[in-house]
Order: sequence, then structure tokens, then C-alpha cells
Amino acid sequence: MNARTQSQIDGLKHAGIAVRAAFDAMVEACQAGMTTRELDDVGAKVLKQYGAKSAPQLYYDFPGATCISINEQAAHGIPGDACIANGDMINIDVSANRNGFVADMGQSFVVGDAHPEQARICQAVREAVDSAITKVRSGRSLNVIGRAVQAVADREGYTIVQNLGSHGVGASIHEEPSYIPFDNPKETRKLTRGMVLTIEPFFSTGVSWVHEEDDGWTLSVPPGELVAQFEHTIVVTDREALVVTA
Ligand code: CO
Ligand code: CO
Repeated sequence: MNARTQSQIDGLKHAGIAVRAAFDAMVEACQAGMTTRELDDVGAKVLKQYGAKSAPQLYYDFPGATCISINEQAAHGIPGDACIANGDMINIDVSANRNGFVADMGQSFVVGDAHPEQARICQAVREAVDSAITKVRSGRSLNVIGRAVQAVADREGYTIVQNLGSHGVGASIHEEPSYIPFDNPKETRKLTRGMVLTIEPFFSTGVSWVHEEDDGWTLSVPPGELVAQFEHTIVVTDREALVVTA
């Protein structure tokens, strides 16, 4: 969406507060031994308290309030009977519509004791998002995002998943501009004031393409590979971008 008025900005901020609260409650509750369905219930309850509707359910009939992806699962993991174990890398992605405004955020982290390589990839993808956010300004090429993300991936030796990534958001869950994955010098689109988008690269230890599993939702990398995501929803301004999911 193109957020130009203060009431639109406030609406996005309120949506951001709801998804952030649900996400934080889920991280807080997350522990070895619980199922991903139990974890999803925590998020669903918080969204409800805030009067927010799960975007995956609302727009895609997703069988869960939030997406919970474990280990090789990169995204769109369905909450269910899977039991979370110590050392699992979990990605929680929460997006919701509150009073007509949609915010989207996600993060990969390790439950309990992290292997150094798990911690490193989570840290790198987060750094990539933080770096990209500092480059965003109205009038600049959309490619400032991909370039910033690519620089961190290259330095840290990770691949960027090409069939997942940043997208427009705000009035619905997936809007224009779509498909902003990595450095593309041929990018012609520009960042404009009020543009609402996510910044959400997926880094992997070698995979450039995630595949869909038989459940029709979950997107995964092959066993033994790592994949991690970090995501914020931002509004483009003439100065520093406004992060509504902080
Ligand atoms: Co997203
Ligand atoms: Co998301």
C-alpha cells in the first residue's frame, strides 16, 4: 500500500504492535517438548486479544494462525503435532490484519543450545535486514535492499533463497512491489514515499531454491542444509524508514 496519511501510518503501527506482541509471546513460550500447534495457539490468542486476524488464514486459508517452520523448513510450516526439541532452529512468522492494515514479521532462532553455525546464520540474516533498512529512502532504487542483503550474504558465505523474499504489504499480505530477493543491477523500480514493504531475506548454507513439500504449504531445503529468515515491515519515507514491527 501507499501510506500517505497519519491515520494510515497509525493503522500500520497498530497492526505492527499486534504481530510483534504475538511473536514475542510465542518466543517467550517456546520450549523443547511443546508441539508447534501449542505454540501457534499462544500466537492466535494474542492476535485475538488485539483484534487482529491472522493474515495466512484470512488470505490463504492457511491451516494455522502463524507459520512455524523447523530446521530444514524455511517457511510456511503448518503448526501441528511436531514436537520442538532442544537445538532446533525455529522460524516463527506472524502476519495479521488489524482494522484493515496488515503487518508481517518473522525471525529464525534456536531453541535451547545453539550450534555455532545455527547462531551464525541467524545473526547474519538479521544483520542483512538491519543493513538494508538503513539504505531505504524514497527516490532510491528498490535494488538498495537486494544489494545490502547480498553484501552480507557474500561476506558470510551464504546463498540467498531466490524464490522467497521481500514483498509489498499493508492493505493485504502480498502486494506490489513483489519479488525483491537479491542484488539485481537491472532493477528499474524505485522506492517511493509511503511504500509499505517487508524486508525478509532467507539465507542458506548453499540452497538457492526452496521446494514445496507434499502438504502443499511447507517450503524446505534438503536435509543437512541450514536456512534462516529475518523479517520486518517498513514504510519508506524521505529519511530513515519507519519500522512498524519493531
Ligand atoms: Co512476508
Ligand atoms: Co512473514
